[in-house]
Amino acid sequence: MTSSDTSAVWERLQAIETRTLGDLFAADADRVEKLSQRIEFEVPGDGTNGMLLDWSKTHLDDGLLDGFEALADAAGFAEAREALFAGGIVNPTEGRPATHGAMRGSGTEADVEEAEALLARMGMLVEAIHQGALGEVKHLIHIGIGGSALGPDLAVDALTRDLKLVDVHVVSNIDGLALEQAFAACDPAATLIAVASKTFTTTETMTNAASALKWLEENGVSDPSGRVVALTANPERAVEWGVDETRILPFPESVGGRYSLWSSIGFPVALAVGMDDFRAMLAGAQAIDTHFRQTEGRTNGPLLAAFADQYYSRLRGCQTRAVFAYDERLALLPDYLQQLEMESNGKSVTADGKPVDGPTAPITWGGVGTDAQHAVFQLLHQGTHLVPVDFIASIAPGDDLDPAHHKALLMNCFAQGAALMSGRKSHDPARNYPGDRPSAMILVDDLDAAMLGALIAFHEHRTFANAVLMGINPFDQFGVELGKEIAKQLGSGEGQFDPSTNALMEAAGLR
Ligand code: F6P
Repeated sequence: MTSSDTSAVWERLQAIETRTLGDLFAADADRVEKLSQRIEFEVPGDGTNGMLLDWSKTHLDDGLLDGFEALADAAGFAEAREALFAGGIVNPTEGRPATHGAMRGSGTEADVEEAEALLARMGMLVEAIHQGALGEVKHLIHIGIGGSALGPDLAVDALTRDLKLVDVHVVSNIDGLALEQAFAACDPAATLIAVASKTFTTTETMTNAASALKWLEENGVSDPSGRVVALTANPERAVEWGVDETRILPFPESVGGRYSLWSSIGFPVALAVGMDDFRAMLAGAQAIDTHFRQTEGRTNGPLLAAFADQYYSRLRGCQTRAVFAYDERLALLPDYLQQLEMESNGKSVTADGKPVDGPTAPITWGGVGTDAQHAVFQLLHQGTHLVPVDFIASIAPGDDLDPAHHKALLMNCFAQGAALMSGRKSHDPARNYPGDRPSAMILVDDLDAAMLGALIAFHEHRTFANAVLMGINPFDQFGVELGKEIAKQLGSGEGQFDPSTNALMEAAGLR
């Protein structure tokens, strides 16, 4: 692919007339059918589950879809997708493949075999802990940051609303308050510490891990390092740090941090919900891998979502996109998606190092409905920014209360999409709703472990598809390095800093 191939397609896309959602629906009686689809999958031992993707309330139409399919061809989407699953070097700046798919059975035979062996090892440790091999384990303090925390936090929160085998606390921030809060909720004699770090060098994680060991020691635990499990792609470093090899759960270097929930980084999830549910989560993700791999053009769900993402960010100038889960179990999904999308696609250069020729990842933000309706939806309905919105909801309720709760939840969700689109004219400017504001809907049958895996994999592939359409590498994150280096220099006092930073250091008594 060359950028001139895609530039020509972008020019054609730019020339397509913008039509309102009202006009689009009026012009095509089959619009809902054309822009919706159901992805169904079987989960072994758990029947069928499915997700309905409805992108009909976006501005995509036949002309735009033809254009975006041409863009995908010009950008080499099919080849890039094949390279992803075939273990090709899809992360050229680090010279690596991205094999997170293999963790759930989608990859080369060798990668899948390796993943299966690592998963079996994790399963044995989880099983042994459940059976008391490490004594009483009531709590797990999971220490990690970024991709080593956000996925586990989301999945534990989503899947343990009814039942948890172990009480998990995810601690990421180096702010000691976060760790203190976890200590306050745990009995040291019945607590395990998971140190989750791909590199096993991240300052926040290693500082928190050392403090957690000290806490165990100060509270009478005789062998604190015997209570530590390491989840890492750098097992040598974990051994040096003092973790016994039997409690190190490795994962391959080619699994990126924000794509690592499926690897041993998912250990707290497996410990909290059991291996069967963890495997169900992998199976749901694999079902989406299969759909993404085998479906072409606009019928490919994640690719269609990426078409809409590109349309809004490049052709309509939207700088943000919002995600509202109408489900308490997905309260942490916006945080998770922020890292997935912004760390992957918040870049200014293409995979071959040239400046990009358009905007890259929009800012992802969001919250849970209905809370967000009473907080930020004013801006969505009447503000000056156009914000494409995703709604996510489950037909089966997560609660056992009067079904009126869930019915009201879903009706609120659907009402928001309808109101954003139709608006309502008023002579009173303050009461006028302009409408024509886009939204997409992901409506799942039942938000169980498999569906959570499917939802996350859907967003991983949507992120990848966006990267391919923009010509960027979604698997590196050099943008986070400079701040880390300067923090170290400030700590050691080496280096020259600007006057404002010097003054702040003095004001805080740090020099
Ligand atoms: O700072 C960014 C980052 O490298 C993320 O990509 C990663 O998920 C996080 O830090 C944690 O890294 P590690 O797992 O190596 O501790």
